[in-house]
Formats: sequence, structure tokens, C-alpha cells
Amino acid sequence: MKKVIAIYPGSFDPPTNGHLDLIERGSKIFDELIVAILRNPDKNPLFSLGERRAMLEALTADFKNVRVDVFDGLTVDYAARVKAGAVLRGIRALSDYEYELQMAMMNRKLQPDLETVFMMPAEQYSYLSSRLVREVAKLGGSIQDLVPEMVERRLREKLDPAIKLQDARKMKPGKRA
Ligand code: PNS
Repeated sequence: MKKVIAIYPGSFDPPTNGHLDLIERGSKIFDELIVAILRNPDKNPLFSLGERRAMLEALTADFKNVRVDVFDGLTVDYAARVKAGAVLRGIRALSDYEYELQMAMMNRKLQPDLETVFMMPAEQYSYLSSRLVREVAKLGGSIQDLVPEMVERRLREKLDPAIKLQDARKMKPGKRA
């Protein structure tokens, strides 16, 4: 049988539990799933591409058929380069549908053989977005349960570099905090 490779494109700034939920679901229905981070010159991301890639690689290490990559340009061109037959996207609420449908239709116009597959994340992530996570974290709210622990720590370090320094000191026995 033909192997189906899917790409899961996005900004992942930062990766959330909603993204991971979708990656897990996608890994079960596709033979191979490539989490593809867009290098977007128009956006000013909180996390660099390297940071997002490293976080996603660590977070998906247990999924043997998932890998992480970075891409430029059109999603359809990237899909062709990696021989993907499907694009995976998450739909949380009806409000996502219009934008996602527009993208899926444009991608179909550009590359009729590439199918877009929509999946719904678990209900508890239906209101979750990277943008809201960034906003809540910046304003000092709790993002526990919304992002993996590693992402929560990185976000805290990013928003308050003093935390990184404190943590580094705690790790070294004998050093005064
Ligand atoms: O996580 P995001 O920001 O919602 O992801 C959007 C993404 C990366 C899927 C979309 O912006 C995209 O596909 N960009 C690549 C450029 C492209 O192909 N544009 C035409 C798509 S209709």
C-alpha cells in the first residue's frame, strides 16, 4: 500500500498542548507526519526558528513517525518537495473554518492533488491559541495545562531572563543564589 506522508504546517510560536494533541492524532492516521515550521519574514516571532524547532523536536521525540522541519515559501511547494499527499490543519471552532477553508481551497487551486485534512483537537484545547498563550504569559497569567512544562519554562525565561539565571544558580551546588 502507498505510504501517506502529511505535513502539519504552522508558526508554532510557541507550541501548545493543542498542537501536540493534533500531532498525536495525526501520527495515528498518517504513515509519516512532518511538523513544518514556516520561516515567515513578515512576522516578528517571540521564539526563534531554532528555539521552536528544538522544542518541537523534544516534544515529539516519542512519536517515531513524526519529524520536524522548517520551510520557506508556499506550503504546496514544500509538500511537493517532501512528497506529502496531505496537509493537516486543526479546526477548533466554527470561527477557524472560514480562514482554513480559504487556505485549503487556495492550496487546492495551486496543487489539486494535495488534500487538506482537518482534525479537531481535544475539547479542552478548543479555545487555545499560541497568540493567547503569549498574551497571558506576558501579562503574568497562568498558562499551566495549556502548554507543555518545557514550553512554560522557556516562556518564563524569555519573558523574565532573571529566572534563567536563578535556575542556573540553583543547579550548581555550592553556589550562592
Ligand atoms: O500557525 P499558522 O500561523 O496559522 O499557520 C499558517 C500557515 C503557515 C499554514 C500559512 O500561513 C501558510 O501555509 N503559509 C505558507 C505560504 C502559503 O503557502 N500561502 C498560501 C496558503 S493559502
